[in-house]
Parts: sequence; structure tokens; C-alpha cells
Amino acid sequence: MKASDIRHTFLKFFESKGHTIVSSSPVIPGDDPTLLFTNAGMNQFKDVFLGFDKRAYTRATTSQKCIRAGGKHNDLDNVGYTARHHTFFEMLGNFSFGDYFKHDAIQYAWELLTVHFKLPTEKLWVTVYAEDDEAYEIWNKVVGVPAERIVRIGDNKGGRYMSDNFWMMGDTGPCGPCTEIFFDHGEGIPGGPPGSPDEDGDRYIEIWNNVFMQFNRTEDGVMHRLPKPSVDTGMGLERITAVLQHVHGNYEIDLFVALLAAAKSAVEASGGQDIDPASPSLKVIADHIRACSFTITDGVIPGNEGRGYVLRRIARRAIRHGYKLGARKPFFHLIVAELVTQMGEAYPELRAAQARVTEVLKQEEERFFLTIQHGMEILEGALAGGAKTVDGETAFKLHDTYGFPVDLTADVCRERGVTVDQAGFESAMNRQREQARAAGKFKMAAGLEYSGTPTTFHGYEHLVCETAKVVAVYVDGSPVASADAGDDAVIVLDHTPFYAESGGQAGDSGELRNASSRVLVEDTIKIQADVFGHHGRVVEGSVKVGDVYTARVDAERRSRTVRNHSATHLMHKALREVLGAHVQQKGSLVNAERTRFDFAHNAPMSDDEVRRVEAIVNAEILANAAAAAQVMALDDAQKSGAMMLFGEKYGETVRVLTIGSSKELCGGTHVGRTGDIGLFKIVAESGVAAGIRRVEAVTGDNALAYLQGLERTVNDVASALKAAVPEVPARIAGLQDQIRALEKELGALKGKLASSQGDGLVAQAIDIKGLKVLAATLEGADAATLRATMDQLKNKLKSAAIVLAAVDGGKVQLAAGVTADATAKVKAGELVNFVAQQVGGKGGGKPDLAMAGGTDASKLDGALASVQGWVAERV
Ligand code: SER
Repeated sequence: MKASDIRHTFLKFFESKGHTIVSSSPVIPGDDPTLLFTNAGMNQFKDVFLGFDKRAYTRATTSQKCIRAGGKHNDLDNVGYTARHHTFFEMLGNFSFGDYFKHDAIQYAWELLTVHFKLPTEKLWVTVYAEDDEAYEIWNKVVGVPAERIVRIGDNKGGRYMSDNFWMMGDTGPCGPCTEIFFDHGEGIPGGPPGSPDEDGDRYIEIWNNVFMQFNRTEDGVMHRLPKPSVDTGMGLERITAVLQHVHGNYEIDLFVALLAAAKSAVEASGGQDIDPASPSLKVIADHIRACSFTITDGVIPGNEGRGYVLRRIARRAIRHGYKLGARKPFFHLIVAELVTQMGEAYPELRAAQARVTEVLKQEEERFFLTIQHGMEILEGALAGGAKTVDGETAFKLHDTYGFPVDLTADVCRERGVTVDQAGFESAMNRQREQARAAGKFKMAAGLEYSGTPTTFHGYEHLVCETAKVVAVYVDGSPVASADAGDDAVIVLDHTPFYAESGGQAGDSGELRNASSRVLVEDTIKIQADVFGHHGRVVEGSVKVGDVYTARVDAERRSRTVRNHSATHLMHKALREVLGAHVQQKGSLVNAERTRFDFAHNAPMSDDEVRRVEAIVNAEILANAAAAAQVMALDDAQKSGAMMLFGEKYGETVRVLTIGSSKELCGGTHVGRTGDIGLFKIVAESGVAAGIRRVEAVTGDNALAYLQGLERTVNDVASALKAAVPEVPARIAGLQDQIRALEKELGALKGKLASSQGDGLVAQAIDIKGLKVLAATLEGADAATLRATMDQLKNKLKSAAIVLAAVDGGKVQLAAGVTADATAKVKAGELVNFVAQQVGGKGGGKPDLAMAGGTDASKLDGALASVQGWVAERV
């Protein structure tokens, strides 16, 4: 049975037992910040178990894409070293949401394994949670598994409910006791039964875990009973396939045999030679191509934080193993095609993303291949003296300068029985973080010290506050009692309508005014999280702590900024619609002129994609929907489906901005209705880093000005061409044709002119022992004309050595030609070189025709005059 048939049989078996077949969810959990990656089949049903969500079914079955490379369940370090661990694997599962419980779950599993998959019962062992007598009894009395093959396992992991037989998704969430089914691969394989001291060998392999979901564990560690006891089972497709294909390791199943062969040929095509097919490095590569390809398919791009960094670590680990096998250029991406052949049918999204996945991996490889060699040399140097540990500074340097994630360094070390000084590495990392933080803070706050109350912000509703009181004043970075006319100052007010730069939106400008003084505010910045600094120039009177001002935001500038900001939300949404859900905001800058939006995407946007995004955003503008902001608990925001940025830290309450069809967490200021944006136009699209694109766009009067500017240019072009605007393209094409025709004509005329000069030159040739020698300049000739004239002169002179020159600017073009009868004595290449050297150049060519250039035209006459003597010496 092939892996694909086993997947199919599993799903169909549970369908026959009343289960609905549900598609795998992405490897990126949609709205669960407690999870880095989908790590089990039950993830997509978490809320159903908790009773928050209802489905049309109470029984489901899935084949789920899972990643265990970070977080609570992390198998990364085991990959390549055991026969059964993967970073990516497929989990077959059946689920009951308050429907059947232990009896049916156990009996379904037994029926599928022994009746349909025909596994010999004596090869199967089971474990139960030590306190779960009910499960024990079902196995023993109802199913008939003898007591010697049922193992009770208690809390063996250092705490209450910390057990191999008590399954938790993470530190919080649904959980419960479980019963696991093991397969005995037989005596030849090292390892002992579950619960024995050598249980970690490869002989007794857990193939199926049946979890009896009964509790929800909350952050405080309390176990709350679930509304209804449920079932969550998981069977690794790779493990059951190994059993059914009578092999003892996952890497021997059909799917991996194909991937290992593809990995071997990719590495061999990139420099590796005669690779041992059993090399653990090949297994690492074959495993990692799946984790990398599926995470990229579901929207992750290699980066320096969060999921992007996990992806980078996995990819670089695979690349390093290829490097170890001899690859010296990108090879990893070449394996994607075979993966698609193997798994594209079961997971069509992988097939659809094939080109993008290949390109993203190729770029990551190209980057890493730039530094891997040097990094490996440094690491080899550190390992050379027989050291038992690699020090933290070296590990940090490899990380920081050569792009070696520390677990990659550790991976190399482990092969040599060496450890990495993790603590030393962490402290080097922390030192760098501290330095970066100190530098960032200094820049933002410009060193301003403030210990008063936070600023109250009224700028969502108002642009003017008439009673803003000064609570601090700074000049040249130091607190002062007052600032005078002409001073550049930073002023803190107790409350203000001025928005301080944050979340990509520029700070407001405007003025502070009272009866005796006036300040022009150029910018507003945060000097602490909730303390706004109004930065500007005192233009009248003086400003003292305690003074009261009317604070007035420059309304026009603010309107332009909010139009750009609101349009950014609509554009973000439209980009995801047009390019795909992998589009994630990577940076944004919104000011009164434009919006600049950086996002993860791997190819330049086509013209058509740009137009579609523009059309979607402008349709939202025309729909003129009201915008609404709502402050709510982060949890509720997540449930409402609001877009949030991965890796961003949010407070417990957040502001959710709904505008048109977009819903996003945002603290910025926005238009009242989408129609206020007026018009939206993308003006530039470019790449800023590997996998990151940048779109710049304008709105409202800026968009109008942009279009009017374009119109003006087009009108100027049309009037210069004396054509109506629609005729411009045809007129330009016509002009280009005309230019080409004229160039052709000009070339022909030049040729004619040169050859007419050629006729005159025949008479100038000197006879030296029967060989005609001629050295002359052709006015206005280019290289082609020199060559053509040379041919004519050779024909006319019959037996000759000729040098022709042309001067263009200060530069000299030279051609030397010798008729075939004379090349034994006089070689054109030598002749042209002899002349060229005298005019500051050099050249060469064949014995009968050679070309050269020179830079000193002033020496040309003398050089041509020397030709006769040179030839005379050789004939
Ligand atoms: N959630 C359990 C596991 O992952 C069973 O599906 O092992």
C-alpha cells in the first residue's frame, strides 16, 4: 500500500463510521497566538472542544499538515538521527465532539489496524494513563489485549498531569489522558517496550495516540472540565506507512524513497559526488524540504523573527547538510518538483504554490551560499584544536556575521561530539540587543527625561484643544523652565489633539498659540510610550511650564495623512485578495504625501495585479462605507477576525478599526467614510529586500495632482509631436521607424564616401619589392567602413600591406590588412600592434586582417609614416 492509499483508506474508514472528512488547515494557525505552527490534527478544532464554536458535524476525520519545530512539541534536533522523527509530518486523525468516547474510539482504532490494515495483534502494545482504569478495562476485557502488553504510565515528567499519557497541545488549551498504540518492529531492532528504560529505541514505535479530551488548562494551571468529553486521535502517516510497507524506518517508505533520490541527485548536480544513499544528511534534507515547502505555501517567508526565523533555521540546516555532502551552489529548491509530484494531489495548495516556493528557497540558498563557506572555515578553526566546546562569542559571530543560527552550529558540533556554550551565546546576544535598544531609545526620545503624567490624546475626535497646559519644555535635549522666541523646543502638554508618530503614521504639525506667544509645531513624537513631545520653533513670546495654549493641528496636512492611512488598510486587504494570504505587512510609512507599504511577497507585481488592487480600493472608496473604531479585549479582537501583525506585542485592550471590508488593529487616525479618500492611485512598486516588495500610493488631492502631472507630460509630448493625445504612441512608433531608415541610409552613405576616398588612396601606395604599402587616414569612417574599405583596397592593389586609421574625438581606430600572398612575411596582427603602440593602444587579430584602438590621435601621423620602414624590414 502506498502512503497515498493509506491516507485514503483511513479517511474512508472513518467516513463509513459517520465522520465528515475535513480538509487540513494551514500549517500556520489562523487565529491562535499560543501556537507557532499547527502541531496536531486537533488544532483546527480547538474552539469546538472548548465549546466556543459549533460545527455541522460531531464526528470529523482529517489528514493534517503538522510542523513540530519549535514550541512545546519540537522534533527538529531528532531529525536525521532517529528513524521516526520529522519536522513536518501528516497526522491522520478522528475526532468526536461530545459524541462517542473511550469505548468507540478504542474499538475503531483496533478495527482499522487489525481488520483493514491486517496487523498481527501480537505485534501491538498499548499504554494507558496510570489512573485510567476505564481505558485499561476496555483494552483488556472488551478488545482482549493481554495484560502483559498493556502498560500503565503515570506522571513521569515531573509534575501533576505531566506524563507521556496525558496530552496537552501547549501550556494552555484542551487536554486529557491518552492511550497510545505501539507497534513492535521485531527483535532485530534495538529498543525496549514503552515504559522500559530503553523505550527510546526504534523497536517499539508509537503509531497512534487516542486522547480523551476532558479538560481545558488555563494559564494559572487550573484544569477546567470541558462541556462534553471528546476524542482526539492522531496517527503519524509516515509511521503507519512504514509498518504497512514492512520497513523499519519512516525514511524507507515510498514517499521518502522518492524524496531521498531527488535530494541525492540535486546535491550531485550542485557539486556533491558519489553520495552514500544512506547518509543521515540526505534524510535531513528530505525531511526539511517538506517543512520548508509547506510553511512557504501557507504564507511564511524566511526572516529574522518568529515563524520566518524557524523557516530560515530549517532551510539553512538543510543547506548546511547539502554543503557537507559537497554542494557548492543552490540545490535545495530543486527538490520541490519531486515533492509536488509526491504530495501535490493530496494538498493542491502545494501544487499551486510550486513556483513561488521554489523561488523563495532559491533566494534563501543564494544568500546563505554567500557566507556558508567562510562561516564553516571559522567553525572548523574553532573545532581544530580538539576543543570540547565552541565558545559563545564564536557562536555569536557565526550567527551575526555569517547567518548561522545557533542550532545549526550546534548541529555541526554534535557530529563531532562537541557542545556549544549556549549561555555564552545568549549573553553575547543580549549584549547586542541592549546596545541596539539603547541606540534606538536615544534616537526616539533624543535623551529627554520625563517623569510626569502621561499625555491625554484627543486627536481622534478633535483637531483643536483650547486648554492645553504645558507640563515640560526642553531645549537642546535638556529640561528648561521656559523657551524664548527663536528657540527650537520640545513641549509636552497635559492633553493634546496632536497625533504623535507611531504605527507608521507621521506625527502632526500645527501651532500652539495664546495671547502672548506662538509655537509652530513641525512634528510630534513620543518621548515615552504615552508622553507626546511637540517639536517646533517658538516664533513669538516665550513658553513656560504652566502656560495654557490653544493647540491646533494643521487640519489639511492631517486630512491628507488620514486619507493615506485609511487607504493603506484597504490596500493591505486588496493585496491579500489579489496576491494571496501570504501577504503580510512588513513595514509602513504614512504621511501627508503618500503611503509606503512593505509586505512579504516574492515577485514583482504585474501591471495587471497593480490595476486590480487599484480597482478594489477605489470600489471601496465609491461604496462610501463608514469607518468605525472600537476598543476591545485582545481576545475579542482575535475572535472578530481582525488582522494583526505577527510578532507585534499588543496590550490587553486594543483598538480595532473597521473600514470598508478591512478590519485591522490600529491606533492611527482615519477618515470618517471611505469616500473621504477621494481617489487612490499606486505610483510605484519595487523590491526592497529578498521576499519583500514595496508599494507606494497617493490619495485625494495628491492623487489628482499626480494624474494632472501625468496629463501635462502627455500633453507636452503630444504638442511637441503635433499630434492629438491618442495618436502619440503611433506617432512615436512612426518616428522610430523613420530613425531606423535614416540610420541605414547614413551607413550606406558613409560606406560610399569612404570607398570614394579608397579610390584616391590606391595611387598613394608605395611599391616595396613588389608589395604595395599604404598607410592612410579615412575621414569620418567607423570600424565597419574601415573593414569594407580594406577589402576594396586589397582587391585593387592585389599584393599589399595596408594600415587604415580613423579618428573620432581623440580616439583612434586602426585596421591592418595584408593580402594572402604576403602574410608569410608580414602579419597584420603584428603590424596593427606596431602602429597601435605608438598611439597609446594595442590590438591584434588574424594574419590577413587585424583591428586595434588607440587613445593618442596626435601621434597618428608619425605612426602611419613608420609603416613603410617596418614593412621594408620584412620583405
Ligand atoms: N493531539 C494528539 C497528538 O497530537 C492526538 O491527535 O498526539
